[in-house]
Amino acid sequence: MLAKVLSCAVVGLDGVLVEVEVDIGGGQPGMILVGLPDAAVQESRERVRAAIRNSAGGRFPHGKITVNLAPADLKKAGPTYDLPIATGILCASHQILAPIDDALIVGELSLDGIVRHTPGIIAMVSLAAEKGLQRAFVPAEDAKEASLIEGISVYPVRTLADLVNHLNEEVPIAPLTPEAIEQPVENSTGVDFADVRGQEHVKRGLEVAAAGAHNVVMTGPPGSGKTLLARALPSIMPAMSLEEALEVTRIYSVRGLLPPETPLVRSRPFRSPHHTTSHAGLIGGGTWPRPGEISLAHRGVLFLDELPEFSTQTLEVLRQPLEDRRVTLARAAGTLSFPANVTLVAAMNPCPCGFFGDPARECRCASSAVTRYQKRISGPLLDRIDIHLEVPRIDYEQLADRRQGEQSESVRARVEEARAVQAKRFADTAILTNADMGPKEVQTFAALDAAGEQLMRAAVRQLNLSARAYHRVLKLSRTIADLAGEPDILSHHVAEALQYRPRTIDA
Ligand SMILES: Nc1ncnc2c1ncn2[C@@H]1O[C@H](COP(=O)(O)OP(=O)(O)OP(=O)(O)O)[C@@H](O)[C@H]1O
Ligand SMILES: [Mg+2]
Repeated sequence: MLAKVLSCAVVGLDGVLVEVEVDIGGGQPGMILVGLPDAAVQESRERVRAAIRNSAGGRFPHGKITVNLAPADLKKAGPTYDLPIATGILCASHQILAPIDDALIVGELSLDGIVRHTPGIIAMVSLAAEKGLQRAFVPAEDAKEASLIEGISVYPVRTLADLVNHLNEEVPIAPLTPEAIEQPVENSTGVDFADVRGQEHVKRGLEVAAAGAHNVVMTGPPGSGKTLLARALPSIMPAMSLEEALEVTRIYSVRGLLPPETPLVRSRPFRSPHHTTSHAGLIGGGTWPRPGEISLAHRGVLFLDELPEFSTQTLEVLRQPLEDRRVTLARAAGTLSFPANVTLVAAMNPCPCGFFGDPARECRCASSAVTRYQKRISGPLLDRIDIHLEVPRIDYEQLADRRQGEQSESVRARVEEARAVQAKRFADTAILTNADMGPKEVQTFAALDAAGEQLMRAAVRQLNLSARAYHRVLKLSRTIADLAGEPDILSHHVAEALQYRPRTIDA
């Protein structure tokens, strides 16, 4: 007797349908698994056998059981196939009689038949819906996540026995009714702008960064609040659309990082990889490629703290993804890509000891050491960073000041308005924000009036601005004007933009 069950693999962030075929024939009793299963799938045999035996009324059939996972050229990994294999065996041995060809079945089994959490559910169920399947049987723990996908009924499965009883129409499992997604948007880092004392010009710079999606680097002595300020950034970025939230959720689901009680990632991610993080950890990879830190920061903030500690090779690895806003990994079976649209925030001390330029403490570094240190960021990343902010140490009076600063919520409202202006401006283009403008768009959308022209001409001459720096100032001026609700860029917008140039290294 042959049975077929539909299940799913995840390749990158996408589901691929896998057919689990089970044949029970005469011959030496035993169970073989074919179709490129990895070691974890092989171990499935033991789990499935125990789970069936330990489920009330379950009988593990005699005879030779052959399980084939198709397509055969796709590598199968992990314990996801336990539940479909067990279901297939029960169908082939007539313990389940109902047709299941319209159903997706996924889940790991424990020895006593409990269906366990499985990563990547949202990718799998969305594929099933695309393929026109009507029902998805998923681990109960992951059912809420699955119910984010429309057009398919999601059944939370607690145990193998529950699934059998449902399919045999003995004890039905109630499908999960898709809830209106009312999960509140939370601040992913818990830091509000109002928590940061003083540093008004840095906060302003971060507001400009959020408004135009510009990358930022902050320089300042230890303890000046750089890390704190970076952590406050997600809270002023525009709220994610549902579409964006689903993109981010899919990445976290595949990495198995989705907490069960929050099926949808609503808040902008903040990731802060350590400078010792491996290349695969940063951009993704591995034999079974998984998204890395830069993809986990998709639609949010990638924070590189202590930037000069990152090796040049590491920064080089980040360059292409930052440029393309995607990670592309070459593999034997073609290329694979992960989204990586991040706001980059970097922080660094001004010199190895940290106190170069500090009014209170003397810097102990040789001037050549300071130059060498600052040059470390002049490499591949600098091209992508529009805003340079100096973060001085704040004095006691400011730190002890009890007055509340402006809350993130009201800053975010201005940022969202500025983004709406940009959405309208770039409606007919592939561009989303001012930071993405190329020289052509800068010419079209960031033209200056006479006073602005004059200021710019003086700046190019006196500050010796390069062509690249010139474009950067224009892009920033556009964002600053958008924040002010001005259709035209005025000279004081240009003046502010000029302040965000690097102090030490001209770019
Ligand atoms: N402007 C500020 N407002 C409120 N608290 C601050 C401020 N600046 C610093 N702090 C306090 O000092 C601590 C250290 O700040 P933070 O870690 O952000 O400094 P840093 O600039 O990143 O230093 P380092 O260069 O050593 O990494 C923070 O956890 C915070 O409690
Ligand atoms: Mg820090």
